[in-house]
Amino acid sequence: MKFARLGVNIDHVATLRQQRGEFYPSVARAAEVSLATGAHQITIHLREDRRHIQDRDVPEVHAVCRHIGKPLNLEMGASDEMIAIAVKERPDWVCLVPEKRQERTTEGGLDLVDPVNYARLAAACASIKDSSPSTKISLFVEASDEVLRRCLTLKIDAVEIHTGDFARDFLEKKSLLHHLERYKKGSLLIKQAGLGYHAGHGLTFDSLVPLLQEGDFEEYNIGHWIVAESVFIGLGHVVKELLTLINQHPLKGSL
Ligand code: PXP
Repeated sequence: MKFARLGVNIDHVATLRQQRGEFYPSVARAAEVSLATGAHQITIHLREDRRHIQDRDVPEVHAVCRHIGKPLNLEMGASDEMIAIAVKERPDWVCLVPEKRQERTTEGGLDLVDPVNYARLAAACASIKDSSPSTKISLFVEASDEVLRRCLTLKIDAVEIHTGDFARDFLEKKSLLHHLERYKKGSLLIKQAGLGYHAGHGLTFDSLVPLLQEGDFEEYNIGHWIVAESVFIGLGHVVKELLTLINQHPLKGSL
């Protein structure tokens, strides 16, 4: 039996670190813990505005992945600056995503319908493949027939379907049928072409279930929910450890 792979996106460990300008929590440690417990890959998004992952994190996390023998998936916009970083670092995967400065998070898939954008992405894929042939490329896209057909004309290895709208509808208890139908249709087209079919964005333990039941996505990249849930799984443990430490040190001069 085959099962889907889990890519753990650790961007929001870096968000926590950057928010206070501290040295912790360490994203390298987050990568280590995730991979040691069985995650299939680490995903990080080096954004143009460096709001979470920093340049120095990329080689550090890559070293952890290499040491454990699991892939690094570097998400990035298709800018010259990012392409240069990818070509230097040679991650196992590059996932090209649209990036807008004002957005809180990646808000949708790449626009492959606009000819200028299509040409820019085609050039980015060619440039990465020419300079780093071992790096596989995925494109973060909506599951629309037109967009997926355009993906087939590019030098890529997989598509990652943006599941943000599905995940939002799940939380708002709306019908998911149209999303699942689109995903199924997309899967047939993409797999027939021999490309990988990945998914990501906004997924939680619960919203993952209908997608797992359909069984079409080979890989899920999940971040925000994992980091958020980890707070609750870890909080009691950390409070207990701190109290143990405090209680090993009685106050001086008190009865
Ligand atoms: N996949 C891609 C391409 C993304 O841009 C993101 C968000 O950075 C994710 C997966 C993970 O999304 P989330 O943090 O909502 O799980």
